[in-house]
Amino acid sequence: MAKSNLSVVQLRCEYLDNPLGINEPKPRLSWVLESSRRSQMQSAYQVLASSSEKDLKGGRGELWDSGRVESDQSTHVVYEGKPLESSQRAYWQVRVWDQEGNASDYSDAAYWEFGLSQGDWQGKWIAFPTHVNNTASAPCPHVRKLFTAKKKVARARAYASALGLYQLHINGQRVGNDVFTPGWTEYSKRVQYQTYDVTDLIERGKNGVGIIIGDGWYCGSVGWFGRNHWGPLAHALLQLRIEYADGTVETVVTDGTWEAGTGPLLTSDLLNGEEYDARLAIPGWSTTRFDDSDWKPVKTQDLGTVPLLGQHSQPVQEVLELEPKKITQNPTGSYIFDLGQNMVGWARLKVKGPAGTIVRLRFAEMLNPDGTLYTMNLRKAKCTDVYTLRGGRTEVYEPTFSFRGFRYVEVTGYPGKPPRDAITGVVAYSNTPPTGTFECSNPMVNQLQSNIVWGQRGNFLEVPTDCPQRDERAGWMGDAQIFVRTACFNMDVSSFFTKWMDDVVDSQSPEGAFGDVSPRVKPIGDAAPAWGDAGVIIPWTMYLCYGDTRVIEKHWAAMVKWMDYIAAENPSFVRDKRLNNNYGDWLSIAAETPKDLLATAYWAYLADLMAKMAHVIGKQDEARQYDELFAKVKSAFNRAFVKEDGKIGDDTQTGYVLALHWDLLPQEKREAAARHLVADIERKGGHLSTGFLGVGYLTPTLTEVGRLDVAYRLLNNRTFPSWGYSIKHGATTIWERWDGWTTDKGFQDPGMNSFNHYSLGSVGEWMYHTVAGIDVDPHKPGYKHIILHPRPGGGLTYAKAAYDSIHGRIVSNWRLRKGKFEWKVAIPANTTATLYIPAESEEEITESGESLGEAEGVRFVRMEEGFAVCEAASGEYQFVTGQVPALVG
Ligand code: BGC
Repeated sequence: MAKSNLSVVQLRCEYLDNPLGINEPKPRLSWVLESSRRSQMQSAYQVLASSSEKDLKGGRGELWDSGRVESDQSTHVVYEGKPLESSQRAYWQVRVWDQEGNASDYSDAAYWEFGLSQGDWQGKWIAFPTHVNNTASAPCPHVRKLFTAKKKVARARAYASALGLYQLHINGQRVGNDVFTPGWTEYSKRVQYQTYDVTDLIERGKNGVGIIIGDGWYCGSVGWFGRNHWGPLAHALLQLRIEYADGTVETVVTDGTWEAGTGPLLTSDLLNGEEYDARLAIPGWSTTRFDDSDWKPVKTQDLGTVPLLGQHSQPVQEVLELEPKKITQNPTGSYIFDLGQNMVGWARLKVKGPAGTIVRLRFAEMLNPDGTLYTMNLRKAKCTDVYTLRGGRTEVYEPTFSFRGFRYVEVTGYPGKPPRDAITGVVAYSNTPPTGTFECSNPMVNQLQSNIVWGQRGNFLEVPTDCPQRDERAGWMGDAQIFVRTACFNMDVSSFFTKWMDDVVDSQSPEGAFGDVSPRVKPIGDAAPAWGDAGVIIPWTMYLCYGDTRVIEKHWAAMVKWMDYIAAENPSFVRDKRLNNNYGDWLSIAAETPKDLLATAYWAYLADLMAKMAHVIGKQDEARQYDELFAKVKSAFNRAFVKEDGKIGDDTQTGYVLALHWDLLPQEKREAAARHLVADIERKGGHLSTGFLGVGYLTPTLTEVGRLDVAYRLLNNRTFPSWGYSIKHGATTIWERWDGWTTDKGFQDPGMNSFNHYSLGSVGEWMYHTVAGIDVDPHKPGYKHIILHPRPGGGLTYAKAAYDSIHGRIVSNWRLRKGKFEWKVAIPANTTATLYIPAESEEEITESGESLGEAEGVRFVRMEEGFAVCEAASGEYQFVTGQVPALVG
């Protein structure tokens, strides 16, 4: 039989590459299909899983042989094999059959490994013996133990966690390259652990293991409300599982036999920074050679009942490094290093000088007019590292348990004139793989894309935070829901949001209220409209972008509870009760949209999403109920806020945008509402006035109502307020406020003026799905069917975007050349697409030089509003339209 042209690549388990420490008994498996030919579909698949890689390669699936399954499903295939035992690894591989029934080769083997179940944990939490209550000035505990590996080691795993933060060392080597482990969760409901393969670090004979413990979110400062949010004292937990070559297993755990001491890390705080005295360094502290005679036995605490769960998302890691662009000296003698980019992480200091010299690093996003650091907007976050030199050779320092957002580093006390490499910017975030690229012919828009991506890098750190610099850095729900679609284009945030949804639901109150922030940080309380609504919007977006139904099933009850929470006190279907902090269209520009209008619009939107999601998971009765709720809220919205002439509320842009975008208006009022929207933009000299809630839907709505020209005008603006205004004034990230800095007023109120807040960057999704034209089809989510619909305009001569979907790479590159529209498209194997080719008629279109009718894999369906609509199979295509249609211009 002929071989299929399909190859099976990128095998992923629970969205991850070869994960360890999976606690999901039935993980979902996904793969990507590649082919050099067009029109390639999977007609069947077979998955084999085995605990032996050799057996697997021999074609035997002792854990699972799915057999040949007639299906084109290549994502979220649920593992139905034998349950794995703790620490057991399953190797797996896949082959597929194409539509002609030809089989592919088996893919390379991938694996996942089961973690520890709750009952497997044998150790205890351990802490520094003399701390009762953690204080800001306590040095970071170091704890250690020696153990013997009696026989030849075949395989070893470290399962590690902390109430606080930990850094694990074995025999003098740091384990792994993750930072801020075990990550941030609602610690009263769940704590993550990490799994490391430490086989190569453990020697036959004597070994040393050590852990540095930090306060982190658990008991260090979080937000502006001080310390000890979850507990008074940081603890660590470790279970080392050593499997010998003869099959026997030895376990080393944290317990009362460990010893505790301190080292050079004198203070450490996520927000405030660290003090490190290198003269107190304790070289070799995790090795067998170290003398710990003055260390003391640790204090222990029983494990308790809070579940320990393997981290199923990318940990925070150092991802990039930035070199300084410029160094200047202040009149005070200190130096300011400009990294040229507002970033998040920390600075690595390289220094040589006499022992006892103190070098102080301070950080800021902006400079004052006199060239000094603008730190007022950090509020109480000190963001300062103080390093005391040991003397002698060149020393390199970076903080262990602290991060901050900055572009400028002020170095004080440096011995002599610091060379350029004295400071390196280390960029750290939850290491979500990049998936999207966007570029076009307008450099300002490219800078906007860069600013959006940097905002995402800077704020996707364990949870989606609002900002990374001031004493806040919290999981604000309103920000996350408006940005999530954009986030999904730029990076693979599937497992990041899967994890965060657990935090969201863990933070739900017994009455059903989600929190304004997740995890909740007291005293930020029950959520406002649009903030709490993230609890419904995020699962829907995960479904859209990744085809994930499990996230809906898992959180269905919590979503219903939130919907009931809203309904219980709003019997008139206008949402004007239980609004909690009711932020409204946060940070709009002199355009206050009535808050009950916003809340009601969001409620209708939620009802619509709930109906759709109920449908997806087979709850037809609920689907009907939510459809009815949508209809009721919609009519209440019209009664309360929509006037005869189509004016809505107080005639603000956001009011129109939400009503139009979420289909809240009767057909006959849509046109009028669209006119009022555009009229308001025109009255403002072609400017937007939307805050967090309106901004994400503004350009999409203008596109939907046929005013692409206005959408492009907003995109291209460089006058205040606009995205371009901040860029004209040097922004390298998205600002919290349109007027964070203006030529007439300078800096806004430092009480709330972040220069790295992603919310207003939610225009990013429109750049991908409308300017470049890569969009998802809600009926076949996860880009199983793709909508490719670019809308040239705004003077752009080209736009190109690529997106690595869960089904593979999608490309849309268009350009205008010599009066023609040229469009390169790639549609992954095992997917299909609807293409909208700008043209006056189908006859003028060619594909790879042939007439459209001759082209393989693509079929013309109809003309629609200046586009030739075609259905296309997978493959790469090159279209040219004979003349640039009128709308392109
Ligand atoms: C945060 C926002 C958040 C808002 C709620 C601010 O302090 O930075 O991003 O959504 O509060 O109004």
